[in-house]
Amino acid sequence: MNPQLDPTPDHIMQVGLGFWASKALLSAVEMGVFTELANGPEEFNDLAGRLGLHLRSARDYLDALVALGFLHRSGEAYSNTPATDFFLDRHKPSYIGGILEMANARLFGFWNHLTEALRTGRPQNEAKEEGASPFTTLYADPARLKGFLAAMSGISHGANLAIANKALWKNYATYADVGTAQGDLAVQIALANPHLAGIGFDLAEVGPIFEEYAETNRVSDRVRFEPGDFFTQALPRVDVITMGHILHDWDLKNKKMLVSKAYDAINPGGALIVYDAIIDDERSKNSFGLLMSLNMLIETPGGYDYTGTDCMGWMKEAGFRDAHVEHLVGPDSMVVGLK
Ligand SMILES: C[S@@+](CC[C@H](N)C(=O)[O-])C[C@H]1O[C@@H](n2cnc3c(N)ncnc32)[C@H](O)[C@@H]1O
Repeated sequence: MNPQLDPTPDHIMQVGLGFWASKALLSAVEMGVFTELANGPEEFNDLAGRLGLHLRSARDYLDALVALGFLHRSGEAYSNTPATDFFLDRHKPSYIGGILEMANARLFGFWNHLTEALRTGRPQNEAKEEGASPFTTLYADPARLKGFLAAMSGISHGANLAIANKALWKNYATYADVGTAQGDLAVQIALANPHLAGIGFDLAEVGPIFEEYAETNRVSDRVRFEPGDFFTQALPRVDVITMGHILHDWDLKNKKMLVSKAYDAINPGGALIVYDAIIDDERSKNSFGLLMSLNMLIETPGGYDYTGTDCMGWMKEAGFRDAHVEHLVGPDSMVVGLK
C-alpha cells in the first residue's frame, strides 16, 4: 500500500470543506447570477459590474462557478449551463432556487450550531429561544412564510411530478394534500389527471399563496384551499390523502396521530400516500435522508426522518392494508397504504 495514494484523503477533504462550494452556489443564487445570465452570455466586466462584484475576487468567483460546473466560459464570456438555466433562472416556472434561498438565509447559519443541537437535542432555528412550534415563528413574518412555502415547492417538485404521474390515480376521483404549502403536489396531480378534483389543506395563513399558485397553473376550477389545523381538526374526506414532508416534522406520537387521522378521513378503497426522503432500512445508504433528519433536529422540537419499514408499521397499526414503498426520484420515496 502506498500511504500517499491509498487510502486517499480526497473524500474527507471534499466533504469537510464542502461548505466552500455550497456557499459559492448559494451566494450565486442570492445575487441572481443565473437569472442575469438567462438573458444570454455576458463578458466578464459587464457581468461583474451588474452583479456588483469587487474586482479583487470577481474572476476567481466566476471561474470557481465554472470549475464547479454551474457556468460555462467561452473566451471572456460567461453563460449558464443547461441545468442552471432551467432550474436557477428566477423567471422560469422550473425555478427550484427557493430551497437554496432558504438554505442561504436560514439553514446555513443554523447548521453552524449542529454540535450544540446534537448535545442538547434542541432546535437551533428562530424558535431556539422560545421553544414554539417551528411554523408559528416562521409564519409570523409574511416574507419568511412566502420564502418557506416557495422553498418547499423547490425541494418537492421532482417527487411531486413522479407522484402525479403514477397509474393509481385512475382509480380515484378526489384527493387532499395535507400540509400542502404552496400546493405544488396538489397542482401537479390536477395537471396530470384531468378527471380529479383536489384540496390543499394547510394553516389559514397559507391560503392566499396557495390560491395564487393554483391560479397561475390554471387549475383553480378543480383545486381549492381548505384552511385547517391537523392537530385540532379532522382531515378532508376524500379518496386519497397525500402528505409530503409532513411526518418528518413531528415526534412519534404525532406521526402516528396523523396517519390515524388520515385513515379516518379516507373513503373505503382509498389510499394514503406519504412521502419524504425515506431512509433505507439498513440506514446506511440514503445520506440525504439521514442528513434531512438532522435538519429536522435543527428545525423542530421532535421531528426526524424514518425508514420505509417504520412508516409501513404506523400504517398497519392505523388499519391500512398492503402498505408498500415505491422510489420516486433521487433520495425520495413514497409509502402507500390502502384502506
Ligand atoms: C415541511 S412543509 C411540507 C410542504 C409540502 N407538503 C411539501 O412537501 O413541499 C410542512 C407543511 O405543514 C404545514 N403545517 C404545519 N403545521 C400544520 C398544522 N397544524 N395543520 C396543517 N398544516 C400544518 C405547514 O404550513 C407546511 O406547509
